Amino acid sequence: MTLAAQPAPPLGLDAFMPGLHLHPLTREKVTLGRKLFFDQRLSRDNSIACSTCHDPAFQFTDRHPTARGIEGRTGDRRTPSLLNRGYGLSFFWDGRAATLEQQVLMPIDNPKEMDLDVNEAARRTGVSREQLAEALAAYVRTIRSGGSPYDKYIAGDANALNPAERRGLALFRGRAGCSACHIGPNLTDERFHNTGIGSAEGRFAVTGRESDRGAFKTPTLRNAALHPPFMHDGSLATVEAVIDFYDKGGNSNPRLDPEMLPLRLTATEKTDLALFLRSLSGTVEEGWETPPR
Ligand code: HEC
Ligand code: HEC
Repeated sequence: MTLAAQPAPPLGLDAFMPGLHLHPLTREKVTLGRKLFFDQRLSRDNSIACSTCHDPAFQFTDRHPTARGIEGRTGDRRTPSLLNRGYGLSFFWDGRAATLEQQVLMPIDNPKEMDLDVNEAARRTGVSREQLAEALAAYVRTIRSGGSPYDKYIAGDANALNPAERRGLALFRGRAGCSACHIGPNLTDERFHNTGIGSAEGRFAVTGRESDRGAFKTPTLRNAALHPPFMHDGSLATVEAVIDFYDKGGNSNPRLDPEMLPLRLTATEKTDLALFLRSLSGTVEEGWETPPR
């Protein structure tokens, strides 16, 4: 069986989630993390919480092309959805944080985001720095999507995808080449690729390797169709725009990933692929009531 054909872990029965063995989820930690996630005291002027940008009503991201921090300060990148990020192998679009425990404190003292000294956040909430990191990371690990029509189809329900969606799946894995990067149960290889979006340094800022210039982390496609705009700079407004972008082979540049090739899809093929992308949307679960085990 190829990686792409593996079923997603059923919600609540996740076999592998990095970090869980170091920091097992407990009711206490997840409940505290959930409270903190919605707590505006984590921002300097008490105006925003994690959930302001990672909004549960919008697939744990927001509607802006790039993030909006306190006092309307604009960030450089799009807020990523937090769905299934517990399975991530590195964090941020350029992967500069190795663990969720590291990652979750970084928005707090980022001047363009919450702009609050982490020690001050600890004082305000009465939760130590270490507990803040563990609790927020634990909560983020419980934010998951699964049970999509695609998952049901992979699990053997042949009717879970209609014929157009099945044609879209065949294109995704075949001629359109999407599964070269969007692979595995979470539809990401967790690696970094140059698709030609934006002109920022991307992964280069972390590794200093020339070949990583302009490379960004492959995002999961679970529930992605539900949270436009797309890409690390929010530059593509619709699913159709994303498909047109790949159809022309991405944006040409000296370090374009070799997997990015012009596709010459027909109008029907584009529609089928868009329908397939929409079939990746499943049920969202979060919090202790249905924790991953
Ligand atoms: C101002 C909006 C904003 C706020 C507030 C915010 N984030 Fe984020 N978050 C972002 C952006 C933008 C990124 C991506 C930044 C980058 O890649 O450079 C991100 C990235 C992340 C990631 C990495 C996801 C991935 O796929 O790599 C996690 C996890 C995360 N945030 C959790 C949190 C938590 C927990 C809080 C609260 C302590 C929080 N965020 C507050 C905007 C925000
Ligand atoms: C060479 C690897 C690669 C291939 C091939 C590829 N992708 Fe991507 N995909 C990425 C990367 C990397 C990003 C993020 C790019 C960025 O923001 O700079 C991305 C982003 C996306 C997004 C936006 C998700 C979000 O949350 O913003 C969608 C949708 C998407 N790809 C769908 C597809 C489809 C459909 C195909 C096939 C036609 C495809 N991808 C082929 C690597 C790839």
